[in-house]
Amino acid sequence: MTVEPRAPARPRTAVAGIERRSDRLLLTFDDGATSTFHHLWLRDNCPCPSCRHQSVPERLVDTQSIAEDIAPAKVDISPEGDVLIVWTGDEHRSRFDAAWLAEHAYDDGPRWTVDDRQLWAAGSPMSPPEVAYDSIMQSDVDLLRWLHDIRRVGVSFVRGAPTVPGTVAAIAERVAFRRNSNFGLLWDVVSKPDPDSLAYTAHALAPHVDLVSRETLPGVQFLHCLVFEATGGDTILVDGFACAAELARTDPASYDLLVTTPLPWRYRDGAGTDVSYRGPMIRLDPSGSVREVRYSNALLAPLDVPPDRTLDTYRAVRAFVGIVRSGRFEIRARLQPGDVVCFDNYRILHGRTEFDPNSGHRHLQGCYIDRDDFLSRIRTLEASGHR
Ligand code: OGA
Ligand code: ZN
Ligand code: ZN
Repeated sequence: MTVEPRAPARPRTAVAGIERRSDRLLLTFDDGATSTFHHLWLRDNCPCPSCRHQSVPERLVDTQSIAEDIAPAKVDISPEGDVLIVWTGDEHRSRFDAAWLAEHAYDDGPRWTVDDRQLWAAGSPMSPPEVAYDSIMQSDVDLLRWLHDIRRVGVSFVRGAPTVPGTVAAIAERVAFRRNSNFGLLWDVVSKPDPDSLAYTAHALAPHVDLVSRETLPGVQFLHCLVFEATGGDTILVDGFACAAELARTDPASYDLLVTTPLPWRYRDGAGTDVSYRGPMIRLDPSGSVREVRYSNALLAPLDVPPDRTLDTYRAVRAFVGIVRSGRFEIRARLQPGDVVCFDNYRILHGRTEFDPNSGHRHLQGCYIDRDDFLSRIRTLEASGHR
């Protein structure tokens, strides 16, 4: 999920009246709605060329340079319904577009909107969205629909991708630049001698989130099946947000403990990488909704909570993982060559059953993008009218 401090735009386009107060203006829009804008806020958001760079999308105005008690010398409404201010002191002039003011009105406090999110229902296997490789590579409309699916249900299967190594990088780059790590920009999931991850063995991988020992988790993960002749190795996907909601409902004490107790995670390969982070298994946003689930049994470092909380912490971890592994919020699939499973690594735990490397070859390739860039791509596609 994401936190976006932005109110939905309201259909108000002209300012009809202004009432001055000691430290603010009360604007009435032409639909009768009123909003408060403080003098300091208005001066701080002046859109003129000396306050906002006209080509660099950044501010020049420095909040620190504005007097706390700044006030307008003169306030007017333009014929178009915009607000015109001449400020006391340096006689700086500001012009505020009415629609912009309506869009940025803050009367109701900060808005923490939760992404459009559909939790998987307990016990009834979700049929995950699917999309054709050609359609997302060729059409921005299909691309956006696919990204919306990943944001809403956490997962989508791309079908019919070429079984050519590197294809998954091109798919990821339809969305954004890729995220690097000690495993590289593009990694091969094959059973190999001298592995530096359990993923590169034939072991079962219990449902997990990737790279939990990093402060910033990879946002979206792409796993592309190139060759799959081995027996076993089925893909497991679990909705971590649905599991967290179930824990909150059935065992609120464990839920609270996992939200408030940072746990130690570590990956150290003895070859130049020692990445360690302390973070809770369930992270909330400021509105109290689950933002991130952080769990990988393989990367849990030795627990070091104080002794009087050790057993409670184990109990809470086991309660959550029990729900994750119960199969009630899970889908299973056997990937076919040309399939790419794409999922929200803040939300979905993924894993596989054990496979038999002697029964045939199995080769996946994977990569990541960051969540910020995934959401940025959604916003820019929406803004260019592809809704
Ligand atoms: C991984 C992983 C799953 C699989 O590489 O991180 O979880 O199906 N792989 O091999
Ligand atoms: Zn200005
Ligand atoms: Zn993994």
